[in-house]
Amino acid sequence: MTTIEASSLRECLGRFATGVTVVTYWADGAPRGATVNAFSSISLDPPLILVSLSRKAKAAQYLSEGRGFCVNVLSSSQVDLALNFAGRPRHSPITWVEGSHAPRLAESHAWLECTPWQIYDGGDHLLHLGEVQDLSFDGSEPLLFYSGDFHNRGDELDEHGRVRRPAARSVTPLQETTFRQLGEEFAAGWL
Ligand SMILES: Cc1cc2nc3c(=O)[nH]c(=O)nc-3n(C[C@H](O)[C@H](O)[C@H](O)COP(=O)(O)O)c2cc1C
Repeated sequence: MTTIEASSLRECLGRFATGVTVVTYWADGAPRGATVNAFSSISLDPPLILVSLSRKAKAAQYLSEGRGFCVNVLSSSQVDLALNFAGRPRHSPITWVEGSHAPRLAESHAWLECTPWQIYDGGDHLLHLGEVQDLSFDGSEPLLFYSGDFHNRGDELDEHGRVRRPAARSVTPLQETTFRQLGEEFAAGWL
């Protein structure tokens, strides 16, 4: 049995920069969602993607019933939505779009509507694979997550790591109240 400490594991995994998604679905006649950065492409043929959901998340329980879901890739203007669907309700209104297989969030950076493919054991998480049925993306800026903070995109680098195109804005946390400041208890609910 490994003796890796949860806090150092979380911190180390946080060094892997990701985008931020909200996984949306219908439950009890209402649209719902959960913020997820453990999202990955899996296969092009068939077109499969994966989201890793804590067994404690309501999303994992509902999606285990075999319903369709949508992975909404957030834009940098959607930090509020990321927090809202991570259990920190915000006051800003949410605009939903009725998709063919699941509800979607309006104005996300990209979205992929999926039907359930397979669910695998992932320890205290469940690995939900979905088969992509429909998708769309736009030219907005993506929201990024790194080391416990939200970011926007920084300088574009060439193959030597030199700045090819400077960022419109520098890479700084997007808000004063960072994810880390929201507390250990907030993070502990997920990883
Ligand atoms: C940036 C960020 C990324 C997150 N990524 C995941 C994730 O990949 N998997 C997960 O289970 N929870 C993740 N969470 C935590 C869930 O969003 C949180 O537990 C949420 O309350 C689950 O909602 P539910 O219980 O309604 O499904 C993340 C939270 C944040 C802020």
